[in-house]
This record gives sequence, C-alpha cells and structure tokens, in this order.
Amino acid sequence: MKILVTGGAGYIGSHTVVELAQAGYEPIIIDNFSNSKESVLGGLRAILGRDVPCHRIDCGDAEALRGVLKQEDNVQGVIHFAAFKAVGESVAEPLKYFQNNVGSLLTLLEVLPEFGIESLVFSSSCTVYGVPDALPVTEATPTKPASSPYGRTKQMCEDIVHDLAAAPGNKLYTILLRYFNPIGAHESAKIGELPLGTPNNLVPFITQTAVGIREKLTIFGNDYDTVDGTNVRDYIHVVDLAQAHIAAVQRLLDRKATDTVETFNVGTGHGNSVLEVVQTFEQASGQKLNYVIGPRRPGDVPAIYADATKAAEVLGFKTSTSLFDSLASSWKWQLTLGK
Ligand code: UFG
Repeated sequence: MKILVTGGAGYIGSHTVVELAQAGYEPIIIDNFSNSKESVLGGLRAILGRDVPCHRIDCGDAEALRGVLKQEDNVQGVIHFAAFKAVGESVAEPLKYFQNNVGSLLTLLEVLPEFGIESLVFSSSCTVYGVPDALPVTEATPTKPASSPYGRTKQMCEDIVHDLAAAPGNKLYTILLRYFNPIGAHESAKIGELPLGTPNNLVPFITQTAVGIREKLTIFGNDYDTVDGTNVRDYIHVVDLAQAHIAAVQRLLDRKATDTVETFNVGTGHGNSVLEVVQTFEQASGQKLNYVIGPRRPGDVPAIYADATKAAEVLGFKTSTSLFDSLASSWKWQLTLGK
C-alpha cells in the first residue's frame, strides 16, 4: 500500500517513513529539502536496506504534486508533514508560514480527490491549545489563541480540514495528530534531528552544547509557577511518535474512523521541566552541561502535557521510551554527527 509522505525527509517524517516501511507499507517521499538534507535518504537506505522513492518537489506546487501522484499510481493515503516549524521565525516572518503551512495543505486538499485518495493524517501540534486553563490537556480542551503565527497556522489547518469535512460530497477522512515535543533519534543513529543553523529546540541545543558546538545552554526563565520554576513540556520519543502515524493510517485505511475528522493528542502523558531534562541528559550522557538561567522566551507557555488516554483507547497507541532513553538516543545521534 503506497502512502505519500510529504516532508518525508524531515525529522518526524523520516522516522515515520522507517516505521511505515517496517510495517509493510510502501512510503513515497515528497520533499523540497528546504529544511532537510539529502543525506537523510542515505540514512533511510542504511536502515531499510533499500531506497525509498523520493520526489524533490514543493508540496504547494499542485502540478508537480499531480505529476507525482500520476507516476506513483494507486497511492492510498497521505501523511502531511511538510511545513515550517520554528516558532520564533514565524513571529519574524509570518507570511512565509501562512503561505507554506496553509498553502501546502490547501494544495493537497485540492489534488487528493482527483486521485481518489480519501485518507489523510495531518501533523498538528499542542500549540493549538495556547495557554490552557487546566492540565493535562485532553482533545476536548478548548483551543486558545495561539502564541505564535506557527501555532496559528496549525489552528487554521485544523479549521480548514473541519470545514472541508462538513462540505457536501466530501469523501476525505482525516486524523489530526496533535504532537507534543518530539525528541530523540532512531536507535541505529542513521537518522535523527538535523537542525540547520542554531537550534531553536531544547534537546538539539543541549546536545550541541555538550559536544562543544555551543558554549552554553540558556534556560529561558526559572520563575514560572511550575515544579522548579522552569517550563514543563511533554517530551515524546520520535520513534514512538512515528508509530502513532502507523496506527492512524491503519485506522483510516481500515475505514474504522467514526468521524470524518478525528483528533488525537500524541504525547507521553507526563510533563518534565527544562531542568529535569538537563539533569536527565547529564545522567544519560555522562556529560556535565554548561547552562545559565536567562530571561523568559516570548511565546512560551508555562506548562503543557498531554492526556494521552484517547490515543491509547482508540488507536491502541502507547509510548514506550523513557525520557532517559530518549535523551540517550539524542546523544548517540549527536556523537554520530560529531562537531
Ligand atoms: N528552551 C530553553 N532553552 C533553549 C531552547 C528551549 O530553555 O535554548 C526551553 C523552552 O523555553 C521550552 C522548552 O525548552 O520551555 C522546550 O522548547 P522547544 O523550543 O524545544 O519546544 P516548544 O515547547 O517551544 O515547542 C513548540 C511547539 C511544538 C513545535 C515546536 C517547534 O509546542 O509544537 O515548538 O519548534 F513543534
């Protein structure tokens, strides 16, 4: 069964391609490599022992997308990762985010029915919850204003999917996966996160500091109303997260979805503070980390973590990797990359 994976050379995309292939699907990648490297394809080959078809196109290019779907006859479903994801950059360049993140989804939604494709898994984010009133957040927790244009694009994309599903004649079934914070790398250390330039996200910043690329980590604030004053997040191993996509695709293809749009949190159900992540990294890597406490980062929510019950009950999805093992895999990947 062919599954088109947009952004399949990216961080979560590449790990999902591996899980798809190992579950017996035939993943087809499209990627414009704007935030990923061709070397990822070599990593996939090393893990899977064969090439994964990859088309270098922009997902927002309808004609190019049609060309791929014609060539790759009989694609059954799509997992749509292709998007920009840097919160800070989205504040500086909002138009770029709306054009790319919303535009690529619109193109997909226009083209998929032409090829009879009725199954879509969409990468959403816990940023759609904004600053929640209560924790943990369930899928029924009301969304609040997003703290960044990036988050707003995810809210808009969710709304677009819902509006389309309600339109007469709609045949598309979509599962919206709201990711919490993906970390870690494939156990083979053949693929992992490849941030271009200075990392925005915590864990690549930590590993780059530990390996000597960065001088020190700045922890963005320790005066929040949390266990130790630093932000709390739900860190999920990227391979666990990838496996949620397999469960979602399977559910769609088996026609088991009970609604045209279903939404799932994909997290561990546990929150960890930034300091806890740092301490656990030190234990997992045996490295002492140089860090300082700095001012709060604009746009950060104090704390968020998932209620993961619905994904467990409906998708049969449970995470299996501890924070320690996730961080150990990030460190192994960083050592493979070196300086
Ligand atoms: N942090 C630091 N120092 C750093 C980087 C991060 O203290 O140098 C802290 C942040 O303040 C935050 C935590 O580490 O408390 C995690 O920050 P990340 O930037 O790694 O991730 P976010 O929680 O900001 O995640 C958001 C969205 C995700 C989205 C991600 C994309 O919640 O949905 O940004 O970058 F995928």
